[in-house]
Amino acid sequence: MQITLTVNGEQRELEVTPYTRLLDLLREDLGLTGVKEGCGKGECGACTVIMNGELTASCLVPAPQADQAEIITVEGLGTRDNLHPIQESFVEAGAVQCGYCIPGMVLAGKRLLDENPKPTEKEVRYGLSGNICRCTGYAKIIDAVMLAAD
Ligand code: FES
Repeated sequence: MQITLTVNGEQRELEVTPYTRLLDLLREDLGLTGVKEGCGKGECGACTVIMNGELTASCLVPAPQADQAEIITVEGLGTRDNLHPIQESFVEAGAVQCGYCIPGMVLAGKRLLDENPKPTEKEVRYGLSGNICRCTGYAKIIDAVMLAAD
């Protein structure tokens, strides 16, 4: 079946099967490899995207459910030469270790700050609670989101 969706501001028409995951469509069909696969079952947050304004585990979404959706991946935030403010904060705070969780963390932080521009540290911790860092580098990731909020 064919679906139409908007990804990082660009409308795309794609052929999918009922079993195609949104994660695979983004990574394999659209080359958006900032979307990572960790657990593949909705527990780690590595595959996080913003879908219709909400944080979404793309590994759990059958692509047909994304028909007419608006998707933002980390590639839609900034470019290497023109980072989004929250990406700048991650750099400034030194919040990246292996980097695998970072696209999901950045999107979770962005979503939180869009809704709550001045969060407490407790609110940041809660806002990132769906994202797991396998390096356990949480302290600097939380610092980065707090920094972006200033
Ligand atoms: Fe989707 Fe872990 S890969 S939540």
